[in-house]
Amino acid sequence: MANPMEMYIWFHDAILRELAGVEDAARNLNREKSDEIEEFGEHISWFHSVTKEHERAEETILFPALEGRYTKVAASYEFDHDYFEPNYFGEINACVEALSRAHDNDERIAQATRIHRQSVALNEVMRLHITKENELLLPVIGSEFNVDEQIDIATRMGALFDPKLIGEVSVWMYRGQNGSDRENFLRFLIRALPDEAFGKLAGVLSGIGPATEWASFESRIPELRRN
Ligand SMILES: [Fe+2]
Ligand SMILES: [Fe+2]
Repeated sequence: MANPMEMYIWFHDAILRELAGVEDAARNLNREKSDEIEEFGEHISWFHSVTKEHERAEETILFPALEGRYTKVAASYEFDHDYFEPNYFGEINACVEALSRAHDNDERIAQATRIHRQSVALNEVMRLHITKENELLLPVIGSEFNVDEQIDIATRMGALFDPKLIGEVSVWMYRGQNGSDRENFLRFLIRALPDEAFGKLAGVLSGIGPATEWASFESRIPELRRN
């Protein structure tokens, strides 16, 4: 059967891909173009809101469950979440604001340099945090909780996620996945979403990637052929 925590791992994968993308976007940001700066700022805000939803699910469901069996560990992960806020997301936002208002070139260079610097740092620090969750926390969850308990944790984490974000986050995750993860993610979504919601989402996902890939998914997943 599927790993009960598979969604958790896919979500981490998507965050890691996005962190690399943010670093690239910050490096290539044209500090003279207000529309590019605005677009970068909006994208960082969106990514921040998605990250916060993930951290909220960890802090509300996963970490307390862990603390009940395996104490004095979760607090250091929560500490990392709090550290990301002012030092990276907060500072990048402040620099984007300052860059969009800057009138002289020295100020634009200073703010763009700081945005790039903090984006590199965000990527590295969050990568360490997520790698620790994958490589240190997940094995503990696997050993401390049986499969039914893990399914319960994963389900309650999913239920906490802002429903308004589920569609766009699913598209975001799917876009960056390889074929094998896409297929498993589709199987997960079929189980997790009401038929109507899945049908709408499948209509969008079927347009991502080569048509032959979707056709191969349809050949193996009967539920897709109903959409
Ligand atoms: Fe975390
Ligand atoms: Fe996480």
